[in-house]
Amino acid sequence: MNSEITEKKAVVLSGIRATGRLHLGNYLGAVRHFVEYQTGSNRCMYFVADWHSLTECPDPTKLRGNLIEMVTDYLAAGLDPEKSIIYAQSSVPEIAELSLCLSMLQPLGRLQGLTTVKDLVRKHGSATLGLVTYPVLMAADILGPKATVIPVGEDQTANVELARELARRFNNRYGETFPMPEAIKEKIKVPGLNGEKMGKSDAVNAVDIGAPIDDMRRRYLKDGITDPARKTRSDPGDPNKCLSVYPVHALVTPEAELSRVGRQCRGAEIGCVECKNLLVDNLAKLIEPFQAKRQELDSKRSEVVEILHEGGKQARRIISETVAEVREKMGIVIY
Ligand code: TRP
Repeated sequence: MNSEITEKKAVVLSGIRATGRLHLGNYLGAVRHFVEYQTGSNRCMYFVADWHSLTECPDPTKLRGNLIEMVTDYLAAGLDPEKSIIYAQSSVPEIAELSLCLSMLQPLGRLQGLTTVKDLVRKHGSATLGLVTYPVLMAADILGPKATVIPVGEDQTANVELARELARRFNNRYGETFPMPEAIKEKIKVPGLNGEKMGKSDAVNAVDIGAPIDDMRRRYLKDGITDPARKTRSDPGDPNKCLSVYPVHALVTPEAELSRVGRQCRGAEIGCVECKNLLVDNLAKLIEPFQAKRQELDSKRSEVVEILHEGGKQARRIISETVAEVREKMGIVIY
């Protein structure tokens, strides 16, 4: 991790839609890094973006359930309420107020031209106002706590750029208020079993980190695609052409073992089955502690709710301060 980030007092913030349980890709690509930021004097704020989830209009019962599931997975993965503020977006109504204020500074054409928005409009076949303006809500998520470090997937960097534009525009018009948020791109693209990026709702491709290790092994052995050019055990393979096994080894396997596996693949000294088994062994070392913690938390739902309650109060305190400053600067008086 960039040492500058840990040395300066950074406000690290990221949000995840309440779409359901984590999969291996979310864990290796994102949540594992969220955990790493919880050091030094960083202020870390991680939230479940439940309002954002409404752009997809999920079932209300599902949304409520998903929120709790996601937070439980976060906690099992190592987010620590003693070190991070963990909350639901909707626990802080001031975020919606800030979003309204920022929307007054946001040209509509720029939103409609954003690929992040266009992609969603295409996916849904129509656009609600909430969908088109979701990057402004995201800017409010970021600017509310005056966040400076935003770890996000590649697909979200354009939205962080929009938050920077809004911060700049607000500062120019009303005086210095917001620091510039920086997107930290999560470089890791975790391939699923077929080699495509692990997609959330794509059950065929995604590996559920809650699944028993035996299931995971069976799925890798059966569906994990390796180097398509390596037809038989005696053909030499190319780890860099391996679609779903070697790239995950590279994320979880210790360096010495990784280079040995690579060498043995090139020399046809190891078969794909053996290589897959080694991968699942190493995944198990990471995932078993997660699963144990998850199981423990499953019997303590009220503690999870309490963490959200406390996190919501802390986040609200911080964000309310910014929103009071914004009101004052914009000339809004609450009588
Ligand atoms: N829009 C993000 C996504 O779809 C989630 C999100 C909402 C977010 N607010 C945020 C991410 C603020 C980072 C910072 O993945």
